[in-house]
Amino acid sequence: MIDLKKIVQESGKEDLDRYEVENNFQSWSYQPDQSPLRVVSAKGVRFTTEDGRERLDFSSCFVSHNIGHQDPRVIDAICEQARTLTSFAPSLSTRPRALLARMLAEITPGDLSRSFISLGGTEANEAAIKICHQYTGRRKIITRFRTYHGGTATSMTLSSGDARSWAQVLGGTEMLRVPQPYCYRCMFGQQYPSCDLQCVKYVDEVIELEGGNEHVAGIICEPVTGANGIIVPPPEYFPELRRVCDKWEVLLIADEVMSGFGRTGKWFAVDHWDVVPDIMTMAKGLTCGYLPLGATVVRKHIGDRFKGQFFSHGATYAGHALGCATALAVIPIYQEDHLIENAAEMGAYLLDRARELGEKHPCVGDVRGLGLFVGLELVKNKKTREPIIPVAARIQPGVNPKLAIARKLGELGMMAMAANPSNVIAMAPPLIITRDEIDEGIALMDQALEVGDTYAER
Ligand SMILES: Cc1ncc(COP(=O)(O)O)c(C=O)c1O
Repeated sequence: MIDLKKIVQESGKEDLDRYEVENNFQSWSYQPDQSPLRVVSAKGVRFTTEDGRERLDFSSCFVSHNIGHQDPRVIDAICEQARTLTSFAPSLSTRPRALLARMLAEITPGDLSRSFISLGGTEANEAAIKICHQYTGRRKIITRFRTYHGGTATSMTLSSGDARSWAQVLGGTEMLRVPQPYCYRCMFGQQYPSCDLQCVKYVDEVIELEGGNEHVAGIICEPVTGANGIIVPPPEYFPELRRVCDKWEVLLIADEVMSGFGRTGKWFAVDHWDVVPDIMTMAKGLTCGYLPLGATVVRKHIGDRFKGQFFSHGATYAGHALGCATALAVIPIYQEDHLIENAAEMGAYLLDRARELGEKHPCVGDVRGLGLFVGLELVKNKKTREPIIPVAARIQPGVNPKLAIARKLGELGMMAMAANPSNVIAMAPPLIITRDEIDEGIALMDQALEVGDTYAER
């Protein structure tokens, strides 16, 4: 074998490009025959690529870098904790883990108060589903179409023969699917508000027909749906859903992985409607990508149950000390720098400016958002709302209008949120964004949408 240090010391640009193409898997894509652009540094709302060009980050790296890139307060805290203790076996306590569990109880609504701390969003949701099964002893989980909760298969189902999987309800999760409150394309063909929230009534009926509180354990929802199209529910949706869940004793799980940590102008999106979910999951803005971390936070009565019942979940890196110390440095920054207030104010401005684009461009059928979480839905025809491409075409090779717009944005020097399965191109800049930077981003988006217009009927 070669001297492995030489790989690090002697590899040049061409080598790195080759390693990317031959040795790395690129997420959710056809494997490219050219390396993607390499990022060398980032600061605030901007990042610099290897070609020396500075670019505007209007996606906060998949909606994670909420406080902006390379904040020295966080870097210092990471270095300090790294020098003290990077991690230790999760059966023992560390100061950062104990403090973070307390801080999460402080910022989450109601009596959400006990956390399982993991490494990312998908893990936080896996834990939520397992807690839901273990708490209720029921098997069925309701999820909604047009949603993303993470990339792992329900890993426990694969762990057959391992005693740790015995607490998993036999046969694993049985998924039931219901529509989103997606008013622009209502699956019931209704219009808000005359619809009388058919989407919630449907959930109520599904729970009844699927065995009510004998068989249905929980429902998982993104409070504002992110990657699948920035779907903002009508204000009555979550209060009504909470009522239905209470009626059937079904647990309401809020996946705040994308919508949490100030993104929508409140600490968590459910705070807009004063709803307390039974379980809340989070990641991304928890550490803003400085280190990977996720958390599953449950209400007191659920946490207390596990004083007398075996908690059948865990991981080597659960409550990772360095990750927890990172979160402890990140979370107070939202408060100190008034970032959540800024997200509300700048978000309203961004939405106004995005609506101007919607009026101007034939390819934009709908503009919606909450806080700094704004989406432009691309259509072929504004009047008929015909999607710019059908669902299945989005993962076929060849022409994809949204990716063509994203490519144009890349040429212009900006990254938006386009690598997702919907026809929505989203803008979710770091919460430190200023009015001038929003104007700059809108001007670039305006130019890029001209590419989309070539696919639209006028
Ligand atoms: C709402 C939501 N849940 C879960 C996840 C998965 O998070 P992760 O990529 O950290 O596993 C994502 C990722 O984009 C997400 O948007």
